This record gives sequence, structure tokens and C-alpha cells, in this order.
Amino acid sequence: MLRVYPALEDDLFIRLFHKGARSQWTASDMPWDIPLQFNPQQARALAHMLTPVYLGEQSAMIGASAALPQMAMSGETSAQIYLASFLMDEARHFEVLTRFYQRIQEDPLSVRQMPEMLRYHHRLRQGDRVDWVWGILISDIFAKNFYQMFARSSPDALFGKLSARILLDESRHQAFAEHYLKRAVPHLPRDRMTALIGLRDDLLQTMDDMHARLRDEADRLNLDGREFLDRLRAEIEQKARRIGIAEPPSEDNNDSRHRVFGGFGQQVKTAVKDLSEKFQAITARHCDTCFVALLCQTRLIAAARC
Ligand SMILES: [Fe+2]
Ligand SMILES: [Fe+2]
Repeated sequence: MLRVYPALEDDLFIRLFHKGARSQWTASDMPWDIPLQFNPQQARALAHMLTPVYLGEQSAMIGASAALPQMAMSGETSAQIYLASFLMDEARHFEVLTRFYQRIQEDPLSVRQMPEMLRYHHRLRQGDRVDWVWGILISDIFAKNFYQMFARSSPDALFGKLSARILLDESRHQAFAEHYLKRAVPHLPRDRMTALIGLRDDLLQTMDDMHARLRDEADRLNLDGREFLDRLRAEIEQKARRIGIAEPPSEDNNDSRHRVFGGFGQQVKTAVKDLSEKFQAITARHCDTCFVALLCQTRLIAAARC
């Protein structure tokens, strides 16, 4: 529903919008004449490796144009205003990368050469605005890690400079997505949570498939694609935990937990509680990194703590 005078919060979305609006730039501000620092084979390899990121910039722009009216209809006015600046950012990245291809006189891969790209972007378009924000966060983390490699390894080369400038915009995009999801996820029913996990798995699988196709290009640029994807996966997992996206316990799991305590009674419960207390100090120091932490996450210990 279109509202003439909607409620407007003064929240993080508005602050990100102001930040973005104050730091506008265009492709014409970029130093197009500085050296590439790549030989012709490396320039072609970069043109190919950049293709999923390049298509991602267009896809983000088009996806935002579909999510924006959904936010307006839901009365999410500040998110709607922020998204207008996101659209401008992604349009700028799309233009900059198009001009980069023109500058190096190389073409991106076609969809026929890498059909996984189409699968990836089709998957991003499924679901509602919450799915889209989660998918775009995963894509932004992918793009951020990609640009970071070049901004750090060749800060004085043209692509290093472009990457550093784009990264400033991408940091706002991640802040938006994380905040939006932290507010939305606690209200989602179980099946929606499962759908978000499915989306993450599908996108990561498609990234793996694209990596397999680009292995030779990565070698030419001395990049370790496997290490890149492992780092990416770990970062996405960390974000998911912070947002609260986690596999909900299945009905089966709940039933089996109840069966354990129903069958063995208070003695077992007390023994498990003692064990849990003995490990308490250790887990506090080594949370998530050791065998004890794994033990702590089992249903027995968790149930005994309740
Ligand atoms: Fe972007
Ligand atoms: Fe982005």
C-alpha cells in the first residue's frame, strides 16, 4: 500500500543512506590511465574470474529494484530509502566494471561458457525480500573477499584501486543486510529458516562449481581458489550465527531427547549436570574450538543446563 505520510524511523538504515549519499563518486573519478600490472594472459584470466562478480553487480541492482516496492508495501520506510542508495551503488559498480573490461580489451565469460552463473542468479530471485537480503549478503561477502585480494595484493594497479573504492560501498551493503536480517529472522517460522539455510547451501554449492570451472585462471593469477572458498564459507557461517540463522531442531531430535530423559530418569540427568559443570571453565576459554565445546553442544549437556 502506498502511503502519503508514512512513519519514518531514524535508524541505522537512514544513517547508512546518509553515509552513502555523502560519499558519492562515479567511474569518471577513477584513474583509468594507471598501469594494469598484468601480462596479457593474466588480464584474460582476471576478465574470466571477474565475470561472476560483474554479473553479481547487475543482479544486485535489478534485485533491489524488485525488493524496494516490497519494503514500501510492508511499511519499512527507512529500509526502502536505504535501498535507493544501494541501487545507485550497484549501478556504479556495474558501470565501473564494464569500463574496466573496455580498458583491458577483454570480454567476460558468456552464460554458455559458465552456465552456473545463471543458476546462481535464478536462485537469488526466489522467495521474498528476506530471502533476497540473505542471498545478497552472501553475494556481497563473496564480492568483498574477491575485491579485497586485489586491493591488498596490487594497491597501485588499476584493478586494485577500483577494488578499494568499491569495497567502501560494499561495507555499507553488509551492514544493511546484517541489521535487516537480525530484525527479521527472529519472527520467521521454522520452514522459512530452513529455506534460508537451503538458499545458503545452494549458493555455496554453485560457487564451488564456478571455482572448478575457473581453476586454470586462478592458477594464472597465483590465487588459491580453494582457500578463498573455505575462508568465504567460514565467514558466511559466522554471519549466519550472528544473525541467528541456524538449522532448527527436527521433530525427531526433540523426541529422542525426551526419550533419553524419560528412560533414565533423574540419576542420569544429575550425572550429566555434574559433567557439564566440570567442563564449564574449559568451554568458556575455548568456545567453538575444541572437543569439549562439541560435547557442550550435545543435547544431553544442553538439556541438563535447562
Ligand atoms: Fe557491488
Ligand atoms: Fe553490494
